[in-house]
Amino acid sequence: MPDRPATSARPPLRRVLVTGGCGFIGSNLVRYLRTQRPGCHVVNLDALTYSGNPENLADLAGDTGYTFVHGDIRDRALVERLLERCDAVIHAAAETHVDRAIMDSRPFMETNVLGTQTMLDAALHARERGAFAGVFLHVSTDEVYGSLPADRPDLRFTETSPLHPNNPYAASKASSDLLVATCRNTFGLETRVARASNNFGPYQFPEKIIPLFVTNLVQGLKVPLYGDGLHVRDWLHVDDTCEAILAILERGRAGETYNIGGHNERSNLELTRSILAILGKGGEMIRHVADRPGHDRRYATDTAKIERELGWRPTRSAWPAALERTVRWYIDNPGWWQRIRAGAYRDYYRRQYGETV
Ligand code: TYD
Repeated sequence: MPDRPATSARPPLRRVLVTGGCGFIGSNLVRYLRTQRPGCHVVNLDALTYSGNPENLADLAGDTGYTFVHGDIRDRALVERLLERCDAVIHAAAETHVDRAIMDSRPFMETNVLGTQTMLDAALHARERGAFAGVFLHVSTDEVYGSLPADRPDLRFTETSPLHPNNPYAASKASSDLLVATCRNTFGLETRVARASNNFGPYQFPEKIIPLFVTNLVQGLKVPLYGDGLHVRDWLHVDDTCEAILAILERGRAGETYNIGGHNERSNLELTRSILAILGKGGEMIRHVADRPGHDRRYATDTAKIERELGWRPTRSAWPAALERTVRWYIDNPGWWQRIRAGAYRDYYRRQYGETV
């Protein structure tokens, strides 16, 4: 089918199931939905693993349009029950950290692959008995495309670029994308896939580079920069991601994949220097450490499709303002990350970086 602007709007969303709603993108998404679509009830299914944090949605306590369910996406009966009367599910639950996948890939296969398969199964079963006729929107990543060469700035991933995952995390997400695609093809489920570039913003677990570096520096610790620091990421503010996901859900075409990106490519060294400058620190706070094995050199997404079809563009990702606001959020919310960094995080940090936080 040729690309064309979406014309037929669906009826307003009344009830949506979000998985992983206590995570970083998930919690921002739940809040975004409640604000932007106040008539839509949001059900949040989250297993509260290490990165799922109910504090991320503490401000929704008492909101009658929001329901939290503590449970596992691999519990098919539970998911099937939660899907009843929902217009859509936004499947955002996932294991997401590449370094953890390199340490132990099993949870990535269990959550990202088997979890997505169970979610799809539940949607099909619920549909079969007439309890669900909605959209299945799968939140994925540009990492499924693999790496671009640093010396070819003209190249970007499009939605038709081949899948070429280079680490166990990316392999698990590529697998889940394929499961969604085959479910569309074989069973006609009304699916969509959103492939986002590197997200940043409030409530991001401090294992990812931006919150990790900011919180280290606030505590007077150096920041561990991998390899030569010249790896490039396309930084997308989570509010832009949420807006894109809602546009894809409400106006995207069935079975289609949409890239989401920030038009904001930076090397890790550039990013690190910007963070240091915002915090008034110098280059001596950088600790050059061994490179990540199989480290992808550059990610960059071509977002022409979502811009053309849905009129979406990133409007909140531009630096320096968006980065400064994000750094400021971590400075202003020390309790949030100090509680995380005082727990099991310490073991992870020691194992990953060979030192204590
Ligand atoms: P990360 O935030 O883990 O996201 P992703 O792996 O999905 O891109 O890493 C972003 C970039 O920052 C990536 O190129 C690896 C690099 N990085 C470091 O240099 N040091 C670190 O401690 C971390 C966590 C990441």
